[in-house]
Amino acid sequence: MGKIVILTGAGISAESGLGTFRDVDGLWTKYDLAEVATPEGFARNPRLVQDFYNARRRNAAEAEPNAAHAALARLESAIGDDLFLVTQNIDGLHERAGSRRVIHMHGALDTALCAACGHRWPAPAEMRPEDTCPDCSRPATRPDVVWFGEMPYRMDEIYDAIAAADLFVAIGTSGEVYPAAGFVGEARSQGAETLEINLEPGAARGLFDRVIAGPATRAVPDWVAEVIG
Ligand code: APR
Repeated sequence: MGKIVILTGAGISAESGLGTFRDVDGLWTKYDLAEVATPEGFARNPRLVQDFYNARRRNAAEAEPNAAHAALARLESAIGDDLFLVTQNIDGLHERAGSRRVIHMHGALDTALCAACGHRWPAPAEMRPEDTCPDCSRPATRPDVVWFGEMPYRMDEIYDAIAAADLFVAIGTSGEVYPAAGFVGEARSQGAETLEINLEPGAARGLFDRVIAGPATRAVPDWVAEVIG
């Protein structure tokens, strides 16, 4: 099978009870992303933003990984470093299902970041604007989440992995947000095969050589069984 790069989105955690963003009753139908997912929104109202992520941190802690997360952990056990798993999700469900190497390109709810000195530490359940950084003591803490207009993390590693990929798989992502939405085009230009696993084919369905439609908890285990037998 060679080297596989997998990109996951909110759809892989949907059946764990965590909302997606752009489906019917998705998060962005309830919140104005400019208010809660941009540096400008955070500067305007840090308490609103911290409370938004406190609620998502609580939901993620209460959610359980599902069969799709477990299947990807089995795939990692079977093919080791031939799997490069990058997620847009900030929940920890891949890790809680057993995946050991997960690239969180949009950050993670369980880490806190100091905007003043760059220090990172395990996020408390509730973060507040008056919290101070355990390293520099300044009141400059924020969720370690990549907001719109900010550069996602570990992009060099991701592009290197895509350049070496034999297969690129997008699971449960709408393909609406760049740079992640551009990964499939990058993979194709490098000669990789491309597969989309989604409840319904996403925005870039024309770019995928193969599409498996269905809920992730069924479609991902079935596909992993096909790969590792
Ligand atoms: N199984 C598989 N796919 C599903 C399921 C399911 N049970 N439920 C929903 N989906 C699919 C939808 O069809 C859709 O294509 O998951 C995708 C969810 O799309 P979005 O809500 O746009 O989530 P995502 O693609 O992860 O968003 C990307 O946008 O707001 C930013 O930073 C945020 O990381 C996020 C990024």
